[in-house]
Amino acid sequence: MNILLIGSGGREHALAWSLSASPICDRLFIAPGNPGTAQHGTNIPIDVTDHAAVIDFCRTEKIDFVVVGPEAPLVAGLVDDLKTAGIKAFGPSKAAAQVEGSKAFTKDLCAEFNIPTAVYRRFTDAETAKTYVRNYGVPIVVKADGLAAGKGVVVAASFEEAEAAIDMMIGGGLGAAGAEVVIEAFLEGEEASFFALCDGRTAIPFGTAQDHKRVFDGDEGPNTGGMGAYSPAAVLTPELQARVMREIIKPTLAGMQARGTPYTGILYAGLMLTKDGPQLIEYNARFGDPETQVLLPRLKSDLVTALAAASDGVLDSISLQWRDEAALTVVMAAKGYPGAVEKGSEIRGIPAAEALADVLVFHAGTKQDGDSILANGGRVLNVTAMGRTITEAKKRAYEAVSKIDWPEGFCRRDIGWREVERERG
Ligand code: AMP
Ligand code: GLY
Repeated sequence: MNILLIGSGGREHALAWSLSASPICDRLFIAPGNPGTAQHGTNIPIDVTDHAAVIDFCRTEKIDFVVVGPEAPLVAGLVDDLKTAGIKAFGPSKAAAQVEGSKAFTKDLCAEFNIPTAVYRRFTDAETAKTYVRNYGVPIVVKADGLAAGKGVVVAASFEEAEAAIDMMIGGGLGAAGAEVVIEAFLEGEEASFFALCDGRTAIPFGTAQDHKRVFDGDEGPNTGGMGAYSPAAVLTPELQARVMREIIKPTLAGMQARGTPYTGILYAGLMLTKDGPQLIEYNARFGDPETQVLLPRLKSDLVTALAAASDGVLDSISLQWRDEAALTVVMAAKGYPGAVEKGSEIRGIPAAEALADVLVFHAGTKQDGDSILANGGRVLNVTAMGRTITEAKKRAYEAVSKIDWPEGFCRRDIGWREVERERG
């Protein structure tokens, strides 16, 4: 099978690593890719927002299967256009990608199909929204309806904060994404992520993870795309996972099918484990980043077979095997992230880190410059290790981090702390 993978982050390096290891993968191309993906296939500098160019490339190179990594091309309808052109693709249609593209869409879906989530209201008028908040009380959560690159959620502890968020969003601070807001109840509990592979009718569990969104140790500082993650998430016990499948994932698939927009692809559920049970915080229509970097090293089964079965609607014919080991990834970011960062500093020592047993270094924001690797973004490397426990994986991952010589970068030192404490007992 010739495969084209769309994307250029750490998630795509992990996907490229896993796809290229498949016995049924002949040639792998990545558009646009990064220096990490180039170790597993051929990077192609095409503009993935130009769907006609992607389709042309698929025809020229006889691509059998396209795997879409990020949300933007899904929400833009790339999978629809590929399918219309007769090219098999992994990921939801534009209509189904609304589970991530519109928070109001997902909240309404939950309401219609009885899926546990925080109570909510939708608003397009700032004054009406503020009156609702005044009557409801704080804490309360204000969310922009559309994709806002991680800036669309404000957990407001005071009326002032909630009102400022409403004014910023409806006032156009996030562009069209904030023209409508969802205001919802603040949920208390521990967060965890649950992944399901879906073919429109059938969903099968695809692992669990927890991540660290705040930039500094102790979960302090501004939110980021994720500073590290680990899998499995032991808080999601087998009983809780069964409950998530029964109460959240299956009704979502059934609801999407009933609406005539079946969901195919990976469904990434962000959950709050409340005292009343798991509640849906949000859906993503794609693999997580950096969660994929800890899920895929644990997958024993062939990834290409699994993703193709989802696209072909035959997931009921496969089962997935997972390794018992845990995986943990530490994100190395450029100083200043999640704010402005300098690009172009040199990173040394990646080969020394990769030489350690059970360690994988995934590239996220890097650039090849002759024989050198340069920083080229905010989140730059994902240093990943396996171990019998999260504690062991953490120790190995930080040993690998210590081999990397990059004065202009930083990382959190406490990835996995919750789980390490639990394992210590
Ligand atoms: P994201 O949507 O990924 O930018 O992240 C939003 C984050 O805000 C989540 O990971 C939670 O930590 C928090 N959050 C979102 N909705 C709620 C809620 N209803 N109650 C409490 N925390 C929330
Ligand atoms: N790590 C969070 C995400 O992929 O959205």
